[in-house]
This record gives sequence, C-alpha cells and structure tokens, in this order.
Amino acid sequence: MLLVIPDVLSQTKLTEIQSILQQASFVDGRLSAGGHAARVKHNQELPPQAEQLQRLNQLVMNTLVQHPQFQQAALPHRIASPFYARYGQGQTYGDHIDDPIMGPAPGQRYRSDISCTVFLNPPNAYEGGELVIHTTFGSQRVKLPAGHAVIYPSSSLHQVSEITSGERLVAVTWIQSLVRDAARRELLYELSRARTTLMQTQPDAEVTAQVDHSYVNLVRMWSDI
Ligand code: NI
Repeated sequence: MLLVIPDVLSQTKLTEIQSILQQASFVDGRLSAGGHAARVKHNQELPPQAEQLQRLNQLVMNTLVQHPQFQQAALPHRIASPFYARYGQGQTYGDHIDDPIMGPAPGQRYRSDISCTVFLNPPNAYEGGELVIHTTFGSQRVKLPAGHAVIYPSSSLHQVSEITSGERLVAVTWIQSLVRDAARRELLYELSRARTTLMQTQPDAEVTAQVDHSYVNLVRMWSDI
C-alpha cells in the first residue's frame, strides 16, 4: 500500500526546519548507503553527528509518530532516526531497494518494513525529483506539498528522478511494523478505518463491537513482537 499522509508538518514547523537545513553542513549521501544503493545514490545528507539532528527530530518525528493515520497504517514497532537529505541540480537516486536490516549495532537493529519520505520544501522549489515507486500496478510518481508524507513497503523498487533545477529537501525514515506482511497491514488499515467510522457514528451498536473485536484480535494474531 502506498499511502499519502497530508499535512503532517505545520507551516511554522516547516519554516524552522528549512532555516535549520539552510545553515547545516551536508555530506555525501553515499556514506550511509549499503551495497548496490551506494552506486546509484547521488545526494547529500546531514551526518549522524550533526548537532541539528535533535531539534529536527523533535520537529519532524514527534509529529509524524503521533499522526493517527500514520499509526493506523504503519502499526509501528520501531522507528528509525531519519536521514535529512538534500538533492541539488543533477542529483538523483537510481533504482534500488532499501536495506532490509538497519541500525548501528546488535541490539539496536531493526527490520525495515515500511519506508517513509516527508517532503520538507514545496514542489515548485525544484524541477524533477519525483519519488518513483514501482508497484505491481505500474509506477507511481510522488511529489508532494511541503509537510506531506508518503509511506510504502520497503520491499518496493524505487528511485528519485533527477533534479533538473532547484533543490529538494526531504526526511526519510523506516519503520519496523508490528505486522510484517504488507497485505495484512493493508487489510488491518481498511478494517481500522471502518472501525473508526463505526465508533463515531454508532458507538453503541453491536456491529461496532463486532468489528472492534475482530480488529483487535487480528492485530494480536498477526503481530510478531
Ligand atoms: Ni530508498
């Protein structure tokens, strides 16, 4: 499931994030890429020791993880510290699949089930730079307003098309979900939306309790913690 989560970040937060990134020093993004990905990755990232990361993570991650649609769709178990990436003119990230296991050391490792990109500057600030995700239903080209996020299965082949002018700013992160299988997560997401609607419109109806019980017990059945 490819899902756009609109308006994750407010304009106030975006303004602060953009001003922090404008003053930050970036390094070659290939330093953080493994295997094949390093050969096709041409961008810049904030280094892991950058002093701005704590504030950026407060602004971006605290808001993202509390977003109800993100919670419903991702069912997060572990969430990575994001990378803050900058793509300038001529830069691109060719077709690749994200690393399956991430984290710096044993005990801090996690499996990437879901990839997430948060767009940090407006689409008219750059030409090109679409996130192209290859799905069984064809390629999806994603270029979203600042503050919007997209999540998609980490098993998807994807790329960032070349930036032909301007500058693209994003945060990218990965989630280990409570539910490993993407098809099961999608079913749970649909069921949870029905459950939310029923709870709002018919809180005391028997059907609401039945859907709620089925949802809760499916999460129990399919969670792999
Ligand atoms: Ni990727």
